[in-house]
Amino acid sequence: MSLSSRDLPTIRRIPISLVAIRPAKLFDLPDIMRIEHQSFREQYPRGVFLMFLENNPETFLVAEYNGKVIGYVMGYLKPDFEGHVMSIAVDPVYRGNGIGKMLMIAVIDKLIKLGARYIGLEVRVSNERAIKLYERLGFKKLKRIISYYSDGEDAYYMVLPAEEWGRRN
Ligand SMILES: CC(C)(COP(=O)(O)OP(=O)(O)OC[C@H]1O[C@@H](n2cnc3c(N)ncnc32)[C@H](O)[C@@H]1OP(=O)(O)O)[C@@H](O)C(=O)NCCC(=O)NCCS
Repeated sequence: MSLSSRDLPTIRRIPISLVAIRPAKLFDLPDIMRIEHQSFREQYPRGVFLMFLENNPETFLVAEYNGKVIGYVMGYLKPDFEGHVMSIAVDPVYRGNGIGKMLMIAVIDKLIKLGARYIGLEVRVSNERAIKLYERLGFKKLKRIISYYSDGEDAYYMVLPAEEWGRRN
């Protein structure tokens, strides 16, 4: 079955200067979970978001435009000083406006300030759009993890060293 143009979201162009990045709050969870639902085949239960928020209040960030949450990123610092990006998503209607890039820059900066020596993440090998975003920011594919996802798809483990980020910014 193919998608008709009616099934596709209408992309909204918005001035990026009016988008604010701020720490996520409890009251943002319904919006965050709506965006997650629109973005991923599998969803985390609400409890995972709650626990993540409690443990990582500085590195769970949202993008807000006109009082509305339109994207989020979840980062955390591992005990071995890897800053890990667990998830990032932008409301489909607002994609391609630079919001994903803004969220990534904000979480990378924060994780490095908290002591991360490098930033790591996993991404589906088919997710060209996300891979392109990460590569533009300086991430490199370090290895391919076979059948990382529950549907059997492989992941790339991508890494951005803190020194590389310092050189670029
Ligand atoms: C990946 C995602 C977060 C990117 O968010 P976004 O706000 O659309 O991204 P941006 O507008 O900041 O674009 C950043 C870069 O992504 C790439 N990109 C954006 N739109 C693209 C498109 N339509 N096609 C290909 N690449 C694209 C470009 O490299 C762009 O950099 P540039 O503007 O300097 O050329 C978003 O597509 C999303 O939510 N996808 C579903 C969830 C997901 O896959 N998350 C990642 C899991 S690892």
